[in-house]
Amino acid sequence: MLTQEENELMCRIGPGTMMGTYLRRFWFPAMMSEELPEPDCPPIRVKLMGEDLIAFRDTNGDVGLLDNNCPHRRASLFFGRNEECGIRCVYHGWKFDINGDCVDMPSEPAESNFKDKVKITAYPTQERSGFVWAYMGPADKMPEMPDFEWMHVPEENRGFAKFIYESNFVQAVEGEIDTVHASFLHSNLDAQTIAGAATTSGGRFMYNERWANFFVREKDYGLLIGARRPADADSYYWRISQWMFPFYTMTPREPGNGENSFVRCRMWVPRDDDSTWVFLSHWHRHRPMGESDLREIVSCRNLEPGKWIGKANLGNDYLIDREMQKTKTYAGLPRGTGRVEDAAMIETMGSVVDRSFEHLGTSDTAIIAMRRQLIKAARELEEGIEPAAVTHPEFYQVRSSSAVLPLDIMFDEDAEVLEEINVNP
Ligand code: FES
Ligand SMILES: [Fe+2]
Repeated sequence: MLTQEENELMCRIGPGTMMGTYLRRFWFPAMMSEELPEPDCPPIRVKLMGEDLIAFRDTNGDVGLLDNNCPHRRASLFFGRNEECGIRCVYHGWKFDINGDCVDMPSEPAESNFKDKVKITAYPTQERSGFVWAYMGPADKMPEMPDFEWMHVPEENRGFAKFIYESNFVQAVEGEIDTVHASFLHSNLDAQTIAGAATTSGGRFMYNERWANFFVREKDYGLLIGARRPADADSYYWRISQWMFPFYTMTPREPGNGENSFVRCRMWVPRDDDSTWVFLSHWHRHRPMGESDLREIVSCRNLEPGKWIGKANLGNDYLIDREMQKTKTYAGLPRGTGRVEDAAMIETMGSVVDRSFEHLGTSDTAIIAMRRQLIKAARELEEGIEPAAVTHPEFYQVRSSSAVLPLDIMFDEDAEVLEEINVNP
């Protein structure tokens, strides 16, 4: 549980807030590259970190990320003309390039130099691995991009998508590092296993034993999280996950290197205090993603048109089916459009859940540690200590994993073994 004051401090991310200032020290995905398919294509609206922005791809193919509102009299640049290396406001024709410079001001006399004095807020962008990344912090503190393993695998070894959770980013992250919920929320009554893992040992173990022992270690990148469940008589089923500063997670699928054994990196980027962009990148290191590997990606791309949310959503009680809940699945919530089961739990807490009412158990060990790390890092920045992770892109070269291991492997004594599994499955 957190006090209301700590909770507010952890969750509010607008300009000038303590957490907002901290998060703006990092590069993060802002959209998928495919949303701006070609030079001079229509601009799109992008809400990010509580700011209303527009993105456009200019004539050179570079992506601009600008304040939505024209600095003249605040008309929306979403309606702008994207032409000749800039976006032109259709109200009085002022034009801005991707750096935010006003490059034309045809509504003023030719001899005026007013345009040289006007700028619009513009954030630097870079494109990598299917996403347009943005940096919204101070120019003199601009760090390197995080260097994830999935940025180095062949394109066919990856799947990616994005959607929105109608909740604050912290509770979205908490849902991801809470492995125990899978044994309930995502379980199938009829098959006695877990969603998407019907034929696998991992799905069976998670159904058979619904509790887990948690082991959490603080790392340079954030947290290494081990969750251990009884498997067969002589083994445990381990799931090794990471939470990485400030809102990245990696969670495993099935043990081994077979079907459904890909790794999942999720990036939980605040749209505003009350909603979150979820960017998914799933990958295999050694082989292309197969059809079943891509099921989750396909479902996360099957959304309500134009809204980036599942067809079953907060507005329609997620289309809960009480008959299905009695007979087929634990939750009775539909699958195949977004991550409905997760969204239904995370969003209906309230967009910024009041954590002073919580009663946390041992299954919340990782969540407690993540909150502590996040608040500590933001407080340190306020005291002048810059976040270490932003100058160490290599911190992000980790990978989640799952494995069935002998009973005598202990997290504390054998952390190196587990990290090795983690790095070289
Ligand atoms: S409001 Fe944009 S040019 Fe006037
Ligand atoms: Fe889940």
